[in-house]
Amino acid sequence: MALIEVKDLVKKYKISQKKHGVVGYIKHLIHPKYKEVTAVNNISFNIEEGELVGYIGENGAGKSTTIKMLTGLLTPTSGKIEVNGIVPNEKRIQNNKQIGAVFGQKTQLWWDLPVIESFKLIKKMYDLSDKEYEENLEKFTKILDLKDLLDKQVKNLSLGQKMRCEIAATFLHNPKVVYLDEPTIGLDILVKENIRKFIKDINKEQKTTIILTTHDLKDIEEVCDRIILIDKGNIIYDGEKENFKNEYGKHIIAEFIIENKSKNITLETSEEEFEVIEESENSIKIKFNHDKLTVMDVVKSVSNYCEILDMHIQEEGLEEILKEIYRGEIIND
Ligand SMILES: Nc1ncnc2c1ncn2[C@@H]1O[C@H](COP(=O)(O)OP(=O)(O)O)[C@@H](O)[C@H]1O
Ligand SMILES: [Mg+2]
Repeated sequence: MALIEVKDLVKKYKISQKKHGVVGYIKHLIHPKYKEVTAVNNISFNIEEGELVGYIGENGAGKSTTIKMLTGLLTPTSGKIEVNGIVPNEKRIQNNKQIGAVFGQKTQLWWDLPVIESFKLIKKMYDLSDKEYEENLEKFTKILDLKDLLDKQVKNLSLGQKMRCEIAATFLHNPKVVYLDEPTIGLDILVKENIRKFIKDINKEQKTTIILTTHDLKDIEEVCDRIILIDKGNIIYDGEKENFKNEYGKHIIAEFIIENKSKNITLETSEEEFEVIEESENSIKIKFNHDKLTVMDVVKSVSNYCEILDMHIQEEGLEEILKEIYRGEIIND
């Protein structure tokens, strides 16, 4: 049995169609009208112990709704969730003991207390032994660089400092599963790097199962091995990150530094697999499908057109591939 089992999960929100003004209000009292939004539309997946999964999708795709159901905060409209044998929304207290969660910029730390006091309260709440607590505190303080923050009140911390403390608090009780919903949003690059390193280290060392949703695909690129891609409430990909790139990332971007431009580029092979995306007097950038063309095909055509001084080849990153999927340019069959 997998640690997390999600089967045919659906969440529909009922939105009241109340009109403005007194008349609208009264009408609504007599004939309430509701619209239904399907945020999560019949999804299934299993996650094994120790996995580090990136849960990605556009704004409004249904990520937070899924995470809220997994943590037991929301009750599914239908379908089944089990986390370590527990149905989260039915046994919330029991479930809370085994999980940790970060929701964007909401804090679980006590605003007016020094950070260390919040940590001590968490120790009490979860009944941690002195040893467990000290070990984690020492380790987290080191990786997340918390030494100078522990005695400060939470309300006096910057966003990045707060998030580092927040992440430490989330992992303090050695949870079996941690859900991180947009933990890096709004943070500067150094803090992001720091948090990524922490997530990777803890996953490796303590075998904590982690589900990470994020807008910053660099988080996923650097941290996760598996991705689940959700689009309009439906899962459209679930598998290894590398396979995803192989399956969808058919394009290579080649940038040439050139001189002595002459005639227009023409390729003997099918031209639709080949696109000039940027061009100036001394450079040209070409995107091509490497299922259809080789780098040599492209180099040959470019060298018919001008002299090549230098070139740089790059595979499409996760971000470009996803943009193409969202634009409907890649259709999964
Ligand atoms: N409390 C709510 N009431 C009504 N609709 C909601 C609520 N929360 C989310 N939604 C809608 O459900 C869909 C999925 O939202 P969400 O799960 O927050 O997506 P994501 O986290 O991927 O951005 C969106 O269309 C959103 O507008
Ligand atoms: Mg969200």
